[in-house]
Parts: sequence; C-alpha cells; structure tokens
Amino acid sequence: GITRHYKFDIKMLNVTRLCQTKSIVTVNGQFPGPQITAREGDRMVVKVVNHVQYNVTIHWHGIRQLRSGWADGPAYVTQCPIQTGQSYIYNFTITGQRGTLFWHAHISWLRVTLYGPIVILPKRGLPYPFSKPHKEVPIIFGEWWKADTETIINQAAQTGLAPNLSDAFTINGLPGPFYNSCSAKDTFKLKVKPGRTYLLRLINAALNDELFFSIANHSLILVEADAVYTKPFKTNTVLITPGQTTNVILKTVQHFPNATFLMAARPYATGPATFDNTTTAGILEYHNQSPTKATTEAKKLPLLGPSLPIFNDTTFARKFSKKVRSLANSKFPANVPQKIDRKFFFTVGLGLSPCSQNQNCQGPNNTKLAAAINNVSFVQPNTALLQAHFFNQSNGVYTTDFPANPPFKFNYTGNPPSNIMVSSGTKVVALPFNTSVELVLQDTSIIGAESHPLHLHGFNFFIVGQGFGNFDPKKDPAKFNLVDPAERNTAGVPAGGWVAVRFLADNPGVWFMHCHLEVHTSWGLKMAWIVMDGKGRKQKLPPPPSDLPKC
Ligand code: C2O
Repeated sequence: GITRHYKFDIKMLNVTRLCQTKSIVTVNGQFPGPQITAREGDRMVVKVVNHVQYNVTIHWHGIRQLRSGWADGPAYVTQCPIQTGQSYIYNFTITGQRGTLFWHAHISWLRVTLYGPIVILPKRGLPYPFSKPHKEVPIIFGEWWKADTETIINQAAQTGLAPNLSDAFTINGLPGPFYNSCSAKDTFKLKVKPGRTYLLRLINAALNDELFFSIANHSLILVEADAVYTKPFKTNTVLITPGQTTNVILKTVQHFPNATFLMAARPYATGPATFDNTTTAGILEYHNQSPTKATTEAKKLPLLGPSLPIFNDTTFARKFSKKVRSLANSKFPANVPQKIDRKFFFTVGLGLSPCSQNQNCQGPNNTKLAAAINNVSFVQPNTALLQAHFFNQSNGVYTTDFPANPPFKFNYTGNPPSNIMVSSGTKVVALPFNTSVELVLQDTSIIGAESHPLHLHGFNFFIVGQGFGNFDPKKDPAKFNLVDPAERNTAGVPAGGWVAVRFLADNPGVWFMHCHLEVHTSWGLKMAWIVMDGKGRKQKLPPPPSDLPKC
C-alpha cells in the first residue's frame, strides 16, 4: 500500500437549513465533511488541527486499528481531546477491510456535524465481487437541530431529562422537500442515466435514530455491510442503525427517461420516548441525452414517495438483519471463532441514577435518566484509559471488575424490577491477547423495550445469533450460525430480545463499546475492553506518538 496524507482543519461555518442560519463545527469548512479514500493496505496520515472553541477528537468508525489504538479517537478512552489551537496526527493502516466506513467526532455531541465518508477500495487490480458500477455515490444520513446541540446536551445533563429531538433528518446534509424549507437547494439530487448500475454507499451518521431507506419504484441489492462483503440480496427497503454502513447496488431502468423518483428515510423506533417521525427525502433524477417518446409519458408520473415500513416494524427489522450474511467463500472467508475462551452476558438498557450535587434533576426522587450495561453506567474518566493502561497508571482511573454477568436476574421482557436504579463506575474487562469471546447482549426492556445499536471499536464481531425474549443459554446456542454470519462493527440488540456475537481479541489496546444512539451513550450505555499485549513483537501495542494530546 501507499501512504495518503490528509489535513483536517476544524473550523466553524455558517450553514442555512430549515430557513435558519447557524454556526456549525466542520472539517475544512465542508458539510458534510470531506471523503477520505484509500485502498486496502494503505497507510492513512490525517493531521487534525483544532481552530474552534470546543475540544475535539476524530474517530475512524469501523477501522480495525490493528496495533494503532492511539489513532482510534474516542475522547478519554484512547486519547485526551485535541484542545483549541492544538493538533494531532492520526496514523493508521487499513488492513483486511474494503467497502464503506465513516469518520466522525467522538466527543460530546460534536459528531452531529463532524462526519464524512471513508471509502476503502480493493487492492489495485482486485475486482469487486459484483459487477463494476457505473458510478459510486455516498449517501449519508444525518440529523439537524435548529438550536445549538452542545447547549441541548448540556441542559439535558443538568436536568437529567431527555434532550430535545432533532428538527430534521438529512441526506448528505440536506433535509429535503417534506420539511419547511426556503430553498430548492435543500434537497439532495442524484442524477442518473437509464440502464446503468450505481453503488450507493449508505452511512447512518444520525445521532439517535435507526432509519429505513427506500427509493420509489426501484429495488436495491445489498452487497456489503460495515466494510465486509455480504451475500447479495435484493430488498426494497434497507434498515440502517447509527454506526452502520452498507453498500447497495441501484440498477436504473431503461424505460424511465427524464423521470424523477423520491428516495426517503425515516426512523425505525421502538423506544418508549417520543421520536422524530418525520421523513427526509432526496430526488433520483433520470437524465437522457436523446429523449424517446417514453419521455412525455414518464414526465406525467407523479412524484411518489417510496413506501416504508411503519415506524415500529420490528418484524421487518429482524427479517432484514437475518438476511445480512458474510460472503464466506474461499477468497473472503468468515473466520468465526469456533472455540470460545470467555463467555459474557451483558444486559443493556435504561434506568435511573441518583442526581449529582451540581444538578437539578427532574426525575422521581431526585433521579436522572441513565443507561447501563450489566447495571453499570459508565463514568467518563478525566484522563484517557489507554494512556493509564499503557503506563500502568490505572489507579484512580479505572478498575477491571466489570461484571461478566448481570448482578441480578429478572424477566428481561416482562415487568421491570421494582428497583431500576443503576450503579456507576469506570469499569473495564481485561482480556489476555487472543482470547476468543462470545458475548450475548440482552435488552432489559426497563422503561420499555428498545433496540440498541451496539458498536465495538477495534474489531468486527460475527453476529452468530439473535432472538426475541430472554436468551436461553441451554437452547439458543444450538441455533447459532457459525458458518456465514454477518461480520460487523455495529449490531442491533433487538427490542425485547438478544443478540449473540463472537470476536477474537487479537488487537492489543483499549476498545470502547457503546450504544451508537448518542443519547444512550451520554447516559452511560458504554464500557471498554482492555486487550493485553501478547508475547510476540507483533502482538504488542507500540508506544504513543509524541504529539498525543494531554488532558
Ligand atoms: Cu461511531 Cu464509538 O463510534
């Protein structure tokens, strides 16, 4: 591979959406942010210079970061933030991955506007396992707030209540025709020619919503998920959770010259809370140099939106996620761990926690909303976990007693226990190098059943099983798919159900795992795995770069 250099200048930009102008944090004054492109095997060197009043970090979501954990990016996990006026060079090599991923800020809620695509092409000379598309187009879903999001999340932290919902969803930064907008430029347009194939690189960068996506009168063929090739399957609707990326092939048809169709996305929502049930849309616009007589006919077609599943269509969600399978052939094998060293059972869900002194919480009995894994709501440390680990300074920063099982059992899909208070702490699981792990994630349904897109840094995991109700350790493992399960970095824990994943801990470092619904991360639905160094030279994490920011 070659080395590719990028410079990210973090600066403010005035942007008008929904008829209002506000100042947002951007990379290089671009919104959405710039695409970075590489081939598998390339080294990426990205210099990030912070010119804004906020502390920032950038995370390369889904990049495995093999022995380059210092470049992963989550604030207070692998690095201290880059402060105003400072810079940091992220340096990593892309190994064994090809497809679409994305980069985003990983501190507070700054990823609301700080995001952009990562496109990883196959090594030079290697073809895609599907026919070469005429054109490739990133389609990034996002969320837009008219108000300042840092103010919103800080206020929510003060009151312990849920933060305000977004005002719109967006496609490539644009809300589209279903919102009250002041400009036709507020709609994303994809110009296509008839009878061609297009590779759409779908990225869900929204903060808090899983999304259904569809294009009227067209079907899509899913060929890749989270930068891993999949067995192709045809679908009218794609479900994509925050943190997930998916490549789909769009075949334009011959008989629609100069016609237009809507593409649209809106939430798949299962939680108890209210949510933004609005629709973002873009336009698929056919262009044809030599219009035929079909033209006049086609133009008469009304601009119809695609039909999308209803907002809480969990049956669709489950069927869809089951259809995503690894290619699992000789060229692209699925290396599912077959023998397991450690098993973990984690409950994920919401709860309440006591209000701290500087807060004015409005929950019952002076409590605030919280979220937890195995009833532990993660407390962000004041320094980076990775530094503390690497320099043997864990004292007072973290403890390695994160529970392998929930502290008490209850019916996770029945009535919640009477006590829904969670505990808190900066607890991690430490794993010896090359431990093979099986992890079952069970939705607790406390304060309502809810789907949680759990994201693991530093690894892909194989989604070997999923189901509704309570996980049954006696019966369910017999049904695991150990042959061609989806290999992803983000898995939806089904609302009122469970998902089982496996991964090999072959990457030394500290690896964050959290719900990619940003509001749940803020409430503590996060933890970290420490993977210890192995014996060999290539099994150790090298020391940090000299410009690693200090806290
Ligand atoms: Cu996409 Cu921890 O993040």
